[in-house]
Amino acid sequence: MENKIVVSGIRSTGNLHLGNYFGAMLNYIKMQDQFPCYFFVADYHSLTTHPDPAQLKPNVFKVLAENIACGLDPNKVTLYVQSDIPEIPELYLMLNMMAYKGELEKTASFKDKARTQPDNVNAGLLTYPTLMSADILIHKAHYVPVGKDQEQHLEMARTFAQRFNHRYGDMFPEPHPFNFGNELIKIPSLDGNGKMSKSENENATLYLCDSDDAIRKKVMKAKTDQGPTEMNSEMPIDIQHVFALLKLVSAEDTYQKFVANYAACTIRYGDLKKQLGEDMVQFIAPIREKTKEIQQDTNYLHRIMKEGKEKARASASRTLDEARKKMGINFYA
Ligand code: TYM
Repeated sequence: MENKIVVSGIRSTGNLHLGNYFGAMLNYIKMQDQFPCYFFVADYHSLTTHPDPAQLKPNVFKVLAENIACGLDPNKVTLYVQSDIPEIPELYLMLNMMAYKGELEKTASFKDKARTQPDNVNAGLLTYPTLMSADILIHKAHYVPVGKDQEQHLEMARTFAQRFNHRYGDMFPEPHPFNFGNELIKIPSLDGNGKMSKSENENATLYLCDSDDAIRKKVMKAKTDQGPTEMNSEMPIDIQHVFALLKLVSAEDTYQKFVANYAACTIRYGDLKKQLGEDMVQFIAPIREKTKEIQQDTNYLHRIMKEGKEKARASASRTLDEARKKMGINFYA
């Protein structure tokens, strides 16, 4: 086991999709055998968009179940719920004293949300990156497996860690985003507009709970074009996206066959999508069924959450004690 700490989380805002799987979870699953790992459901972060309180619990349970169904082993990793760890909001408060309005306002995710929910531009949205930094720094993480969309947040976590270290003395390692493929990835949506997402582009996002039928239908509607007219021509971006999905879930020789067909101008997108649809069903269906099974076992999920909470709090309270001391908040010593 390597001596580097891994932390990452997923918001409980909706159904997990292929982007969450390949951008984050696949790395979690590989990392669990190599590093001490802390993975959590970011329920506090989901409050920035004011979800229905009645939906929060089923959503948290679903994300936990999906994590386990995808291959996370709660015996190997610390799997917990963010709001079970009171040390996180305390560190968040401390980090907020080191985060400046200007830099927070410039964050792409904040600007995006301020545009899409103009009636709810709350302070939680503005300080989203400091809460995320607290999640990461509370366990003194080195590696954070995330998708491309989280890159800027990680940059800010490094800035806040450096700022704290500079002002109060070294204590936080610099956390770096991580992907086994070396580059952070973005799984595009099937309609060529943006990325797969929990809340947008639902017809162009493949969810881990989609029925076989829904998967086939969505894949058949993926954006393609008239096909290549010249041998060995470069693929337009939408076609690259379809091939990228094929590479993720299909056998290598299947993928190579379609690449060769494309190069020879003999490609039939109908056949390609049919194959992709079937391979996608083979990939998603076992995860969907396993999730359903785990979700029904509330006792099991409660046990996992409690165990995770204990382990995560042990680590978090060590860090928080140290941070309090460094900041001079140790009046009884
Ligand atoms: P969230 O819940 O939006 O997404 C969870 C993870 O999935 C990745 N992801 C994608 N990767 C590739 N292609 C896509 N289309 C795609 N969509 C989502 C995300 O990059 C992420 O890794 N702020 C975080 C949750 C969080 C967190 C943290 C993450 C809170 N605290 C601390 C790491 C460390 C979020 O909203 O992710």
